[in-house]
Amino acid sequence: MSLQVGPRTITALVGPNGAGKTTLLKAVMGYVPPTSGRILFGGQAITSSPTHRTVGLGLGYVPQGRIVFPHMTVQENLMMGLYPRRTDRALRSRAFDLVYSVFPRLHERRWQHAGTLSGGEQQMLAIGRALMTEPKLVLVDEPSLGLAPNLVDLVFETVAKLKETGTAFLLVEQNAVAALEIADYAYVLDLGHIHLEGPAGELLKKDEVRQVYLGL
Ligand SMILES: Nc1ncnc2c1ncn2[C@@H]1O[C@H](COP(=O)(O)OP(=O)(O)O)[C@@H](O)[C@H]1O
Ligand SMILES: [Mg+2]
Repeated sequence: MSLQVGPRTITALVGPNGAGKTTLLKAVMGYVPPTSGRILFGGQAITSSPTHRTVGLGLGYVPQGRIVFPHMTVQENLMMGLYPRRTDRALRSRAFDLVYSVFPRLHERRWQHAGTLSGGEQQMLAIGRALMTEPKLVLVDEPSLGLAPNLVDLVFETVAKLKETGTAFLLVEQNAVAALEIADYAYVLDLGHIHLEGPAGELLKKDEVRQVYLGL
């Protein structure tokens, strides 16, 4: 596959279960070494780079399944996101301000254990944690999975809002319609290959995409 994400854009990656979406994100982040090919970030080769390096360069990652540290408080979870740059006090205060302003609910619950949050709140926390290093590009894996419809809307609105602050997103979603609605560009992945790509608005209109991938 060949895939590109522009600065300050939302790029959607949709496709059925098992297509390889999560594996792609893990390869970019440095969790899974690719067997071939290369990965560039801002023109710099990051193929098989360890994750602390990809994060240090400006990548953020929100894993599938809203994985948080259940026995740590909300605030401690966010501190873990800051970890690679934890000594940067100015960043720490900027990052907490940003995350708590985007997600006031997290501020209200900052002393609560993450394991006692609702599913939607845990997803906010997982996204917030990825924002703590002020990433240039955030890879988000299925943020809407298992969330109530109103929370799904909130997650997508938040991603769209964060794009306005200058952050780029690679958004993996089963909820393809919602993803294409906020994305600038989109790829349809099937069995490890890019099957279709184009401006998100155009893909939304294509009959094949609507029938096969969007179930419309
Ligand atoms: N660690 C692994 N070892 C072997 N196969 C894996 C591993 N992780 C995922 N796979 C397989 O790779 C394929 C792509 O998986 P995945 O990237 O999770 O797909 P998606 O996120 O699109 O649902 C699937 O067939 C899956 O079973
Ligand atoms: Mg997946």
